[in-house]
Amino acid sequence: MVSRVIPVDPFDLVIFGGTGDLARRKILPGLFRRFRAGTMPEESRIIGSARSEHTDEEYRQIVSDAIAEFGGDEKDDKTNLDAFLGRLHYVRVDAAGDEGWEDLSALMRDGVIRAFYFSVGPSLFGALAERLHRHGVADDDSRIVVEKPFGRDLASARELNETLRSHFDEHQIYRIDHYLGKETVQNLMAIRFGNVLFEPLWNNHYIDHIQITVAETVGVEGRGAYYDKSGAMRDMVQNHLMQLLCLIAMEPPAMYEADAVRDEKLKVIRALQPVDYHHLVRGQYDQGTEGEPGYREDAGDPRSFTESFVALRCHINNWRWAGVPFYLRTGKKLKARTSEIAVVFQDLGHSIFEGDEKRHRNILVIRLQPNEGIDLQVTIKEPGPGGMRLIDVPLDMTFADALGPEAEDVPDAYERLIMDVFRGNQTLFMRGDEVEAAWAWTDPIIAGWEARGDVPKLYEPGTAGPDDSAMLLHRDNRRWRDIKA
Ligand code: NDP
Ligand code: BG6
Repeated sequence: MVSRVIPVDPFDLVIFGGTGDLARRKILPGLFRRFRAGTMPEESRIIGSARSEHTDEEYRQIVSDAIAEFGGDEKDDKTNLDAFLGRLHYVRVDAAGDEGWEDLSALMRDGVIRAFYFSVGPSLFGALAERLHRHGVADDDSRIVVEKPFGRDLASARELNETLRSHFDEHQIYRIDHYLGKETVQNLMAIRFGNVLFEPLWNNHYIDHIQITVAETVGVEGRGAYYDKSGAMRDMVQNHLMQLLCLIAMEPPAMYEADAVRDEKLKVIRALQPVDYHHLVRGQYDQGTEGEPGYREDAGDPRSFTESFVALRCHINNWRWAGVPFYLRTGKKLKARTSEIAVVFQDLGHSIFEGDEKRHRNILVIRLQPNEGIDLQVTIKEPGPGGMRLIDVPLDMTFADALGPEAEDVPDAYERLIMDVFRGNQTLFMRGDEVEAAWAWTDPIIAGWEARGDVPKLYEPGTAGPDDSAMLLHRDNRRWRDIKA
């Protein structure tokens, strides 16, 4: 395949939390894949960092083991693996103390991009920014990559933004939402703004409603301590689903450029109406029929009221979307792992086909994962004799079928986003005001639940969530699409 990848300049990437779960599972295997693809320039280095004591050699072994465990077929490429491991170093640093900072400072080089990935618990983000600055480890061109969660409400997000901005300019801060790095999420913009077909219909004159579903089959195994203080609203809706909503609903930006795109997303979030209590459903997965642990066992709190499922109806207060409901749902332990956006167009105003009483609708489905692709439901004549009977069929374009090996060879979300950091491209990262606006919309929902002592509805694992979720649409004479892989 001919590479159309924009090259990056040599870098030193310091991963704070370089021995942690995220680094081992996603960041380091992803960097190895980029190395193999030839997009990691000569002279670039990766410096793992944490409080525990390791030599460079020990750290290389940790990373080699992580790639063996979490990498794909590339883990068997011994020659490249050895060359990649040779780029790795380790420095012991306490993010919240003063140990190790001089060693780190001594290791940094001039003339290469310095990037610092905050892959540690969120309580350390501010401490890291302050110490990077105080110990002169960062320079004016340095970039910091900040993991989620970015605050747990508006007040804490504001405080974190203020802390980060007191040491770094906004253009140096890369707030990760890994959904923005997914190939098909970017395809949302390509589909909308790269085709003449859809944009004229993209409004309340033609669209009946939009459904956004992010369904997972996994529970909260192993992450209960974090998740139980968060819940689906904070963990998924405030960030990932909000970003999908923005990309599907925003006005066309003047160009594909970081601030132009983020300005438009921000306008969507600010135009969101507060959500009515009756348009909210919270659920929590129950024990399985075969005795599999329920949410409370997974979370380690037998009395937890944290939600593992949310469904809601919201509205965007602007000319384009007035009167068009957006239905969002996400949950764990559902019947299939699938993320999709369905744009459901309005019924035909009048049918010329006598006897055809069925409701025919065009539905554009953008499948984010798995089987990335788009599928447009259209109405055609049922083949064969017997007059004009109409049926609805999908015009299906699965990208892997249409594009062949090129579609399979794309970088995953983390790989793409990390490389964008070195390219200085913030288009796929959240700006501080966006994150705050998202919290400003989410906070009253969570506060309402807390004030009412809301108890989430139990749902059976392997289903589509609590019955109330189906009711949310039934009341509007609509239905969720089936959750299927
Ligand atoms: P882990 O608990 O697995 O790892 C934490 C890492 O931070 C370890 O390397 C630990 O090493 C290091 N660390 C802890 N305290 C300090 C300190 N004071 N100074 C320096 N290093 C320290 O966490 P995860 O990797 O799971 O998560 C990291 C971040 O990524 C979190 O913000 C999380 O919310 C986010 N995230 C994680 C995801 C995941 O799938 N794991 C998904 C999305 C976001 P040591 O103890 O030796 O210091
Ligand atoms: C993370 C959430 O941000 O996204 C997890 O914290 C969730 O709870 C995950 O499982 C889902 O990501 P993906 O890429 O598997 O859809």
